[in-house]
Amino acid sequence: MPRIYFKTVDRYVEFAEGEEVNVLRMAIREHCDVPWQCASGNCGTDRLVVEEGSENLDPPRRRERARLGDLVDEGYRLACQTYTRGDVTFSWDPDQVGLDDEPGSSDGGGSRAGWAGTG
Ligand code: FES
Repeated sequence: MPRIYFKTVDRYVEFAEGEEVNVLRMAIREHCDVPWQCASGNCGTDRLVVEEGSENLDPPRRRERARLGDLVDEGYRLACQTYTRGDVTFSWDPDQVGLDDEPGSSDGGGSRAGWAGTG
């Protein structure tokens, strides 16, 4: 079974062979503490460093490239915009905030409830 390793919190999340899964959705569902706000590619709060397995990810789309800029070339992806179909390892700064936010000023936004689904 393929799995996502959320290295910063030392958690593995497995998914079915042949599936393609959204990284943020899996992180939320399995309580892996990836910071996030909008789930729509706008805030950049959920940027993750791809440590291994980038070949299993879908390529960054235009919105993700626009939001991350040069960070894409440094190996970053937005969890909410990234799908994987195989093993991959991510790390992140647990205290990071949105790319336009000052540290400590994030209010978490208002659109979080229900996005990840519960069943
Ligand atoms: S959660 Fe805002 S860009 Fe992914």
